[in-house]
Amino acid sequence: MDEEHNTSSGYSIDYGNSSSVSLKTRPTRTTLTTEQQVFFDDVMIGLQQTPKTLPCKYFYDDKGSQLFEAICELDEYYVTRTELALLNQIKEELSSLIGPESSIIEPGAGAGIKIQTLLKALDAPNNYVPMDISSDFLFYSAQIIQKRFPDIEVFPIQGDFTQPVEWVGTKQSGKSIVFFPGSTIGNFEPDQAIDFLKNMAALIGDNGALIVGVDLMKDANILEAAYDDKQGITAQFNKNLLTRINLQLNGKFNLDKFTHKALVNFEKQRVEMHLVSQVEQQVSINGQTIHFQCGESVHTENSHKYTEQSFVEIAKKAGLQRKKTWVDENGLFSIHYLTLA
Ligand code: TRP
Repeated sequence: MDEEHNTSSGYSIDYGNSSSVSLKTRPTRTTLTTEQQVFFDDVMIGLQQTPKTLPCKYFYDDKGSQLFEAICELDEYYVTRTELALLNQIKEELSSLIGPESSIIEPGAGAGIKIQTLLKALDAPNNYVPMDISSDFLFYSAQIIQKRFPDIEVFPIQGDFTQPVEWVGTKQSGKSIVFFPGSTIGNFEPDQAIDFLKNMAALIGDNGALIVGVDLMKDANILEAAYDDKQGITAQFNKNLLTRINLQLNGKFNLDKFTHKALVNFEKQRVEMHLVSQVEQQVSINGQTIHFQCGESVHTENSHKYTEQSFVEIAKKAGLQRKKTWVDENGLFSIHYLTLA
């Protein structure tokens, strides 16, 4: 970093909430807050690699979380409605497996629609701990759930669930349950998925269980449509990463010069999300310049797809055994109930 330049501005501006500031009139460099500096460093590490990447956890600011909720309602995005329908079919069975007075933690809770289906079916659950990286969204939906379920203690935690997770001051008498729907497990590389599952295994203990939603491998056509919808909401969601860099890190990305691309990679059993530079260009981010070739891509996210068996294998490597797996009638999506091996 260029020290001289960094300190010469002598003031700091938080662009986080002011989307009205024109890109052209902004100074090239400002002092970043500690949080922005972490974001900046992550962005720079990713964009200086070949091939370029950006860390997917930054998708979920409040705007990103809203866009993701819109994705969940798209016709093409079969994931959410298929999982919710399956959950409705199996909720009584889940309830009898889980038993009374359970404690439930949900990493990456989002809008909390699925958990409400489960909470309604459960026998007097003690508490519900939603975790999310986007705080406005988290506290808003936690409040709604608390109102709808006055007998359950709702204890929201703002945080990054790839870091160690703990139970916080909640009363635990029944089973400890980790609820991890949405095939978010697929957004990890398989090795990271195993590490995450190990952390969750420690959290549930001998008596608890992990309920995890896992999307299944299928036709490329269905997958491409699901991750590149006609209305372009997924494209907006992907590009929101660049918007966020522009607003919070004094970035100068021109969104029209990048296109969203969803690519099915059968070898790696995943859908990949990319942002592809349409021209050769230089982009400055708080005074640092990044060069893009025409057609060069920034890899932003993976969504790994599993078979029933390939997921059971991953779980095994994390010390978990499959008690039961449910698959919807069209073979699109699976829900696994796992306990310590
Ligand atoms: N967990 C979701 C999935 O893998 C996340 C997701 C859906 C996503 N659509 C996306 C991530 C588009 C990046 C871009 O299905």
